[in-house]
Amino acid sequence: MNRKEHWENIYTTKADDEVSWTQREPEASLLLIREVASSGRVIDVGSGTSILIERLLDSQYSLTVLDISQAALNRARQKLGERALYVRWVVADITTVGAIGEFDVWHDRAVFHFLTAKEDRQKYVQLAAQSIPVGGHLIVGTFALDGPEKCSGLVVERYDRQKLIHEFGEHFAFKREHSESHSTPWGKLQHFYFAVFERTNPGPTKS
Ligand SMILES: C[S@@+](CC[C@H](N)C(=O)[O-])C[C@H]1O[C@@H](n2cnc3c(N)ncnc32)[C@H](O)[C@@H]1O
Repeated sequence: MNRKEHWENIYTTKADDEVSWTQREPEASLLLIREVASSGRVIDVGSGTSILIERLLDSQYSLTVLDISQAALNRARQKLGERALYVRWVVADITTVGAIGEFDVWHDRAVFHFLTAKEDRQKYVQLAAQSIPVGGHLIVGTFALDGPEKCSGLVVERYDRQKLIHEFGEHFAFKREHSESHSTPWGKLQHFYFAVFERTNPGPTKS
């Protein structure tokens, strides 16, 4: 089963309360997004059926949602009803999609950690650097070093500050971190690590 098939299968066979990542309130994400911007263009990468978008619709953001799974976005749209019209929906693999526009805030909870191949991480970082103007922010939430080794049956890479700076540091300056103990819908605790980065000026062109 390839990556897309895996996620389509998840979202066509499991309800929100049957997947570990579902949150009642996306507290860390909301805190960090609101801290870096009170308005502007926000993308939620790998949004799934998260309630985050519904919460952000109450603010002054222009919202884009991207996910590899059509089934996930269909369900997310359905949950929003008519308010779905205020969101731009993109079904794509973040490691292969072309230009997706510019964003003041790039948010990712539990997607980057699935990229266990170096080339995929490089493509992700390149796209983020290309899509976020200088002064914009990238918020990435992954399993912490003491978090689970797998998510949705897939092996993940776990992160701390140093490891994320290693991935994003060429184009982004580390600003702050936040730890979260997520309780799954069946009450198991999972440690997440969030880092906030600011897009910095590209360095001088190498000759
Ligand atoms: C663990 S879930 C997290 C969902 C959501 N961010 C949340 O916090 O509830 C991972 C999500 O990323 C999506 N995803 C996985 N790999 C992806 C990729 N390469 N490109 C885009 N979306 C991807 C999946 O379909 C799924 O919705």
